Amino acid sequence: DDEKDMQVRPPVVTIMGHVDHGKTTLLDAIRNTKVTAGEAGGITQHIGAYQITNNGKVITFLDTPGHAAFTTMRARGAQVTDITILVVAADDGVMPQTVEAINHAKAAEVPIIVAVNKMDKEAANPDRVMQELTEHGLVSEAWGGDTIFVNVSAIKGDGIDDLLEMINLVSEVEELKANPNRTAIGTVIEAQLDKGRGSVATLLVQSGTLKVGDPIVVGHTFGRVRAMVNDLGRRVKSVGPSTPVEITGLNDVPQAGDQFMVFADEKKARQVGESRSKKQQDAQRKESSKLNLD
Ligand code: GTP
Ligand code: NA
Ligand code: MG
Repeated sequence: DDEKDMQVRPPVVTIMGHVDHGKTTLLDAIRNTKVTAGEAGGITQHIGAYQITNNGKVITFLDTPGHAAFTTMRARGAQVTDITILVVAADDGVMPQTVEAINHAKAAEVPIIVAVNKMDKEAANPDRVMQELTEHGLVSEAWGGDTIFVNVSAIKGDGIDDLLEMINLVSEVEELKANPNRTAIGTVIEAQLDKGRGSVATLLVQSGTLKVGDPIVVGHTFGRVRAMVNDLGRRVKSVGPSTPVEITGLNDVPQAGDQFMVFADEKKARQVGESRSKKQQDAQRKESSKLNLD
């Protein structure tokens, strides 16, 4: 892509942290803060990702468990995360999965924002969290380092606006860009077989614009985009970079982390899809004959 075609795109954010430190509650709190009064309570998230707008800027949150987003997807050569929020419960401090999360984010060179959660609790000790994270190379700006720490209470909704501000800030520093005026490419977030609709895949468009009717190859599957539904469950006709969308129309079910690509014509998509599908079947056959020999 030419530099002149590149446009600012929203950041894609994943949330990681130790079990029960409040990842899901925080994702809920973020979504609820940004829901307009009329929609409050009535909003249902339809896919494993959602977008909000904070001070006029869109942010995409992936609802996949952060670890899965890093391990499964990176194992398949995909990187979807621009920023990771590391949730650490202020009453519990750094735990084994906190350290694991740090290591994943560092390996992927993804910037980390620390959300010190459960600040409403009597036993909350944010200084201890800062101290413990220092030992893992995350030094707070308050202590002369360059890691952003935000104190939050996901349950009370405290600090959520500050956290979103920091995401916007980091996003600007990262200068995230993509070319919306090309055929779409991106990654599968999740996929399953639906009784009525057939293969249903949630895709993250990473560059280009995906449109209904596009001939597409997704991992070893292929087809034409039959219909698209956004995170609010609404039908859409086209979506640009950093947007999650659910599609139907594939001949089989792809896997999380598979990459997708739109082709100019359906014949080409079918050729590429069929050859990939055959390669995959050959590999599976080899694998199973190996197992039989063992
Ligand atoms: P896993 O997905 O199982 O790893 O957990 P999680 O990190 O998603 O944590 P979850 O959001 O399920 O929260 C775990 C527990 O902590 C729940 O009982 C929440 O209600 C509670 N919790 C989450 N955030 C807060 C908070 O800010 N304050 C308090 N007091 N409790 C919280
Ligand atoms: Na939990
Ligand atoms: Mg959870």
